[in-house]
Amino acid sequence: MRNADLVKRDLKSVWHPCTQMKDHETLPLIPIKRGEGVWLEDFEENRYIDAVSSWWVNLFGHANPRINAAIREQTEQLEHVILAGFSHEPVVNLSERLIEVTPEGLNKCFYADNGSSAIEAALKMSYHYWRNMGKPGKKNFVNLGNSYHGETLGALALGDVSLYKDTYEPLLMEVITAPSPDAFNREAGESWEDYALRQFEGMEKILAERHDEICAVVVEPLIQCAGNMRMHHAIYHKKLREACDKYGVHLIADEIAVGFGRTGTMFACEQAGISPDFMCLSKGLTAGYLPLSVVLTTDTVYDAFYDDYETMRAFLHSHSYTGNPIGCAVALATLDIFRDDNVIENNRRLAQCMTDSVAHLADHPNVGDIRQHGMTLAIEMVKDRTTKTPFPWQERRGIKVYRHSLTRQALLRPLGNVVYFMPPYVITEEQIKHLAQVATEGIEIAVRD
Ligand SMILES: Cc1ncc(COP(=O)(O)O)c(C=O)c1O
Repeated sequence: MRNADLVKRDLKSVWHPCTQMKDHETLPLIPIKRGEGVWLEDFEENRYIDAVSSWWVNLFGHANPRINAAIREQTEQLEHVILAGFSHEPVVNLSERLIEVTPEGLNKCFYADNGSSAIEAALKMSYHYWRNMGKPGKKNFVNLGNSYHGETLGALALGDVSLYKDTYEPLLMEVITAPSPDAFNREAGESWEDYALRQFEGMEKILAERHDEICAVVVEPLIQCAGNMRMHHAIYHKKLREACDKYGVHLIADEIAVGFGRTGTMFACEQAGISPDFMCLSKGLTAGYLPLSVVLTTDTVYDAFYDDYETMRAFLHSHSYTGNPIGCAVALATLDIFRDDNVIENNRRLAQCMTDSVAHLADHPNVGDIRQHGMTLAIEMVKDRTTKTPFPWQERRGIKVYRHSLTRQALLRPLGNVVYFMPPYVITEEQIKHLAQVATEGIEIAVRD
C-alpha cells in the first residue's frame, strides 16, 4: 500500500480531532504504518521523530518491547472486568504504586479512561464532598486565565482558551477566573517568581471574598500546555496551597499533561513541595499506550463519602472501562521503567541538551521567548521581539514550521506560534540537536513575510 491509498480512504470515512478537515485539501495527512522508539514511519518509508510524543502521551518510545510484553501477558490473563463489586490484581498493584509515588496524603485512586473524564470526576467529587459535609452552597470552581482541562463540557467550562471554548460558551457552567501566573506576561526585569507572587494577589482576593461558594481551585502546575506551553514559577502553587487551607477550598492539580516527568520531576507539584486534595493523571500514566486516567485523593475526602447506603453519600459515578486491567498493566510497566532506568535523573542530561541546542535562537528578532521546565521546551515566535507583539493568528505561521518539519524527518506540531519539544524520553542527544536544527530552519521560513 502507498500513502495515498490510505489517505484517500481515510478522508472518506474519518473525521479527525481538532482539525478543520478542509485544511487537508492542501496540508498532507500522514498515514503511519509503524512506530519504533522516537520514530514514526509511513507507508513509503519516510520517518519522523515524534517531538510532541503524539499529543504528550508517549514516554518510552513507540512499540516499546517492555510495555508490549506487559500487554501480551495481561491479555492472556484478563482483558477486562467490571470494577464495581469486582477487583483484579493490576488495579490493586497500580493503586498501591501510585499512592507510593505521588505526593504525601493522596491515598485513594478513582479511575476513568481519559483526562477530561478524570477532571469531571474530580469536580463532582469536590462538590459532593462539600455537600456531604453540609455545605451545599459551595458550588463554584476557580480556574486560571489561559488554562485548559479538556473538551467535555465540565472540563471545557474550566478552561480559558477561547479557541476551544468560545463556540460552546452558552452550554457551559460559569467559573471564576483568576489571573494566570504565566511568566511570558511579566514586566521587563521582573523575575518569574515575582510575577507569580504578584499574580497570586488576584487569586487570594477571590478566595478571601468568595470562599463560601467555592468548592475548588483547579490548576495545571508549572506549564499551561494547551495554552501555548506558557510556564510559571512553582511559588504560585505553594501560595495557593496555603490559601486553599486557610479558606477551606480544595486544590485540584491537573497533572494530566505535566505528570510523569515532563517538568523535570516525577510530578510538577513536587517542585512547589505541596500535596493537592485531588491529583488528576492520564496521558503518561500509560506511556502513550492506552486510554486510562485516575483521580487520586485524600482519606479526608474518601471518608466523607463512606457511610450507610441509605444516607446517599456514595460517589455513584462510573465509566464502562474504569480500571481496565490491560491499561493498569501498562501503567505498572511504565512505573517499572521509571524505577529501573532511573529516568528522572537521566532526563536531566537530555533537558540540558534541549536548552543548549536552542540557545542560538535567544537573540533571534522573531523569537519572543524561550522557556523550559525539564523535558518541555517552547520557543515563541513573535512579530516584534521588544514589544512581544504576536503575529496575527490568521497567518498561521506555526503550520509553516510543521510543514517544514515533515520534510526533515520530524514531527513538530506548533501550538499557534509556539514551537515546542516534548519528546519521548528515549530520544538521543543527536536527535534533540536535529530537532533544534529543524525548528531553527522552520522558524526562519515561518517568519519570512
Ligand atoms: C492539562 C490537561 N488536562 C486535561 C486534558 C484532557 O485530556 P484528554 O484529552 O485525555 O481528555 C489535557 C489534554 O491535552 C490536558 O493537557
